[in-house]
Amino acid sequence: MNTTQTAPAHAHAAAIDETRLQAFLGRTVDDLSASYVGVMVSLGRRLGLYRTLAGSGPLSSHEIAHRSGCAERYVREWLNSQVATGYILYHPSSATYELPPEHAAVLADEESPLYLAPAWEVPASMWLDQERTLEVFRTGEGVPWSAHNERLYCGVSAFYRNCYKGQLVPQWLPALEGAADRLRAGARVADVGCGHGHSTILLAEAFPRSRFHGFDTHEGSIAAARENAVAAGVAARTEFTVTSAKDYPAGPYDMICFFDCLHDMGDPVGAATHARACIAEDGMVMVIEPLAHDAVENNVGSISRLYYGASTALCCPHSRSEEVGLALGAQAGPARLREVFQRAGFTRFRVAQENPFNLILEVRP
Ligand SMILES: C[S@@+](CC[C@H](N)C(=O)[O-])C[C@H]1O[C@@H](n2cnc3c(N)ncnc32)[C@H](O)[C@@H]1O
Repeated sequence: MNTTQTAPAHAHAAAIDETRLQAFLGRTVDDLSASYVGVMVSLGRRLGLYRTLAGSGPLSSHEIAHRSGCAERYVREWLNSQVATGYILYHPSSATYELPPEHAAVLADEESPLYLAPAWEVPASMWLDQERTLEVFRTGEGVPWSAHNERLYCGVSAFYRNCYKGQLVPQWLPALEGAADRLRAGARVADVGCGHGHSTILLAEAFPRSRFHGFDTHEGSIAAARENAVAAGVAARTEFTVTSAKDYPAGPYDMICFFDCLHDMGDPVGAATHARACIAEDGMVMVIEPLAHDAVENNVGSISRLYYGASTALCCPHSRSEEVGLALGAQAGPARLREVFQRAGFTRFRVAQENPFNLILEVRP
């Protein structure tokens, strides 16, 4: 009898290293408890508990419950969970709780570029949509961006809005040669895959002489973008249209932007080819993609695991739902992104800037 054919798969498993096992167990318990923290953050955000604590100094659980209109016993338990995770300080001598200003910038201040609290809406939607994800893992089919739980759009939109607010105009745009001057003078700009239009609106606010066209296939996002533009007072110089990255009107545009959406597309080469046809000969394409290296073994750590998770449950499924279905993935890395634009007929490509979260790319005809 051929034992290699009948032996169970685990028969060749290496001996267990007890230290390594305990370290890994500790790591997974950390991750499990971090996922509970996400639920607590969502409660704190939606009940206004962080807002109540921000800038108020030390407060008792009764005072926090009173100010936020919640039941004290629940609030106290939530506060203790936040103390356990290090988000809120506890002063035993006065039995009071305090949110330090640095933590308030991340958890309470909705205008802070570091405001992260709504980002937990994204994994919430990933859990809610898991049955569909299980299904497409088995069939290889896709899930369009529009088919997700509403919490995805709120989370992504709020997260990106603040991130762009802090960085797009002051930091990223100046990394592209001559971009700010061109927009100051008056340019025609396409923001492809614009989502809720936060990037488009920020640019429109900063460069009143330019005209901005936001394009996205998701109707709900385009409706939200129009409302956001009206609220920001830039409706007259922005226009939002439901259309795909391969179909928007030809321009020509002085600048075409792909902000955190190229890898989501089913046919990124087709989208880049359309951009090549629509860009002015002296124009430029600005691409923001999640920070990634070219080799999978270099894409490790907290940022990469966040992006790979989103890529598995959101980006690849959306891409597979579209024509071609390339599923480039949110950790494609500069070499693969360069190849996309080269295949589309662009000749110049450079990483203009990178930070722990993003790659900022400049692409020219
Ligand atoms: C992760 S969201 C980013 C949205 C926005 N750029 C931002 O940074 O807030 C990706 C967006 O790309 C859009 N999208 C995906 N495929 C598209 C396509 N083929 N054409 C146009 N938009 C597309 C989705 O509808 C979604 O709004």
